[in-house]
Amino acid sequence: MIGTDIKIAQLNLENNKLVAIPTETVYGLAANGLNENAVLKIFEAKQRPFFDPLILHVNNIDKVKQLTTSFDPRLKSLAQNFWPGPLTLLLPKSNVVPDIVTSGLNNVAVRIPNHPLTLKLLSELNFPLAAPSANPFGYISPTCAAHVQKQLGNKVDYILDGGTCEVGLESSIVGIEDDKVCVYRLGGLSIEQIESVIGKVEIKINTSSNPKVPGQLKSHYAPKKPLFIGDFEKLINENKNKKIICICFGNKTPLNNAIKVLNLSKEENLTEAAKNLFKLLREADEMEGDVIITNFVTNTGLGLAINDRLTRAAAK
Ligand code: TXA
Ligand code: MG
Repeated sequence: MIGTDIKIAQLNLENNKLVAIPTETVYGLAANGLNENAVLKIFEAKQRPFFDPLILHVNNIDKVKQLTTSFDPRLKSLAQNFWPGPLTLLLPKSNVVPDIVTSGLNNVAVRIPNHPLTLKLLSELNFPLAAPSANPFGYISPTCAAHVQKQLGNKVDYILDGGTCEVGLESSIVGIEDDKVCVYRLGGLSIEQIESVIGKVEIKINTSSNPKVPGQLKSHYAPKKPLFIGDFEKLINENKNKKIICICFGNKTPLNNAIKVLNLSKEENLTEAAKNLFKLLREADEMEGDVIITNFVTNTGLGLAINDRLTRAAAK
């Protein structure tokens, strides 16, 4: 069932059921993060491997403190500047957090999402919500309620409809390693924004098939159709007998040869492109056609995270 009733969402969650929740980044598949049985349901519904830990969502820093044992001052100033917002922090976990949430790791991932409905819901709950993106494992993240309904509709007890996600990319994940601040996932908060508050950070994006942060699996966010990234002329030549769908950015569009051209942002606006990315990948995947071609966007600001997702979507 889809609706906007926070009370229904709350009752389901208090009964250890699954509820899809809107956030500013992507929709989450939420359950009581302190209840092992509830959290297990998330892994089952997503068919997610247990080595891939979950983010806990709360609505204020006091609740974060109950889930953690210390708060590095640098991470705290990021929290103060960017929460609620597309930032996830890795902090030493306290005993209340079940091991299934962190896959046995010592750190727990926490964030305060910026969405009015979900913030209200979290303020009514006396537990955090564990919530990965509400897509089957490895597929494109959902940025509206209909995406969730289509893929996990029969596995969730309620979908809280909060409209289209404003950011459209998952949160940036930041933690401490060897006393340095590290970014483990590029996301909705740009490196420039992070560095404007705490200075230079290390970027530790793992693209192996056995990554340290499991969500960084090489093949992730993947459509079912083959996706190629590069020069349009070259790609069109290489796919001559195929029906080509093109996802472009700005005015770099191929002429004639594509059966459909989708544009991330005609004005080359990276915020708009981020918001459109997963939606257009889905549309391209669902429409008639054989292959999807695209090219990287400007590699600054949110462009880094967009290009990261494109690379993973194309990886096999
Ligand atoms: O924007 C987001 O972060 C969305 C919304 C729903 O909040 N959530 C999301 O969750 O993207 P998910 O599960 O799709 O990605 C979470 C990432 C995974 O790559 C996971 O491996 C990493 O966070 N992660 C979670 N807990 C961790 C931990 N304790 N240590 C290291 N990485 C962790
Ligand atoms: Mg995900």
